[in-house]
Amino acid sequence: MQFPALVKRIAGEGADAWRTHYEALRAVERGEDAIILSVGDPDFGTPAPVVERAVERLRAGDTHYTPGPGRRSLREAIAASHRERTGQAVGVDQVICLAGAQNALFAASLCLAGPGDEVIAVDPLYPTYPATIEVSGARLVRAPAPAAGGFRIDLAAFEAAITPRTRAIFFATPGNPSGVILNEPELAVIGELARRHALWVVADEVYAALGEGGRVPGLAAALPDQVVTISSLSKSHAMTGWRAGWLVGPPALIAHAEALVMCMLFGLPGFIQEAAITALGLPGGAAKLRQFCAARRDFVLSALAGAPGLRCCVPEAGMFMLVDVRDTGLSGYDFMRGLYDAERVSVLDGGAFGRETGGFVRLCFATDEAILREACARMRRFVAGVRST
Ligand SMILES: Cc1ncc(COP(=O)(O)O)c(C=O)c1O
Repeated sequence: MQFPALVKRIAGEGADAWRTHYEALRAVERGEDAIILSVGDPDFGTPAPVVERAVERLRAGDTHYTPGPGRRSLREAIAASHRERTGQAVGVDQVICLAGAQNALFAASLCLAGPGDEVIAVDPLYPTYPATIEVSGARLVRAPAPAAGGFRIDLAAFEAAITPRTRAIFFATPGNPSGVILNEPELAVIGELARRHALWVVADEVYAALGEGGRVPGLAAALPDQVVTISSLSKSHAMTGWRAGWLVGPPALIAHAEALVMCMLFGLPGFIQEAAITALGLPGGAAKLRQFCAARRDFVLSALAGAPGLRCCVPEAGMFMLVDVRDTGLSGYDFMRGLYDAERVSVLDGGAFGRETGGFVRLCFATDEAILREACARMRRFVAGVRST
């Protein structure tokens, strides 16, 4: 029996990097010692009122089909929060609810490009991007954000990557794994090129609430007909498992995404949608998570300061840190494997995120301080061992 070419396109790169992560997960399940810093899932409970609301709605029987694009009340809440955060005046017809930002990225990819097209993404990138972009049949073209430039986008390389086949640019701001936030001058150049070449701009803002004041600079208000904003409650409200996300874009795109939803998802569960409305209405938004992440980031920076062979890259926002391990003489992959084998600490090979991060590992610091203290001590012990051999 045969499978179509699509199955190759979605197999993705970097599967090896996740092997260590899954090994560590299985070890923890067996009750063995392992510290997992390889995934971006805050060690923080979903806010109690959100859980209460979901339980209340479940008990009330809110367990049936719902409208494909999402309930109007949730779309209104998302539109209001988007307006407040980005300054773009959007209505309900510009919002569609999807199963997390990942599902929204997938819908954007399928509705914006296809065979013969090219889609540019900023490298390093979130590891699902290659498959998410190429599932449509389009070709992924990487625009480098070089390590030597602090992982800021190389705007000249981005411009040079644009061809008559280019349909869209995808980026995450703040970035994963770099934690870099695109600044106003960078966005002005990206916006001007997008305007000139009629490119869609897909802004993945899942970590935007972790930026200063709960927002990041963006292009949505300036280029409303071309910008597609992707977000979710996963990171801002520690709700990764709820799969509550959305896409905000021009009404014509929402209509296409709605058709896709009807054959792909058929609406999010009602009790999740009601809980999402509660989350969006919580006073203070993601302020607590923001403070928690900033404190943990500073903790790791001081716990690894001066560790021979390691250089921490300070993220502007988010829950990840890239650590340059090139001075240990190891690649990111060998460091990840060696650290796990010797010390049972699971980090992620930077190579999983692209060409620019092969000599780096990524760790997630959104976890308990005692765990971070122990993990950093083990990392120091590991590098000391590497250097003495
Ligand atoms: C940059 C980026 N985009 C999208 C996602 C997916 O988020 P969600 O859980 O909302 O699907 C993640 C998750 O880690 C991410 O890091």
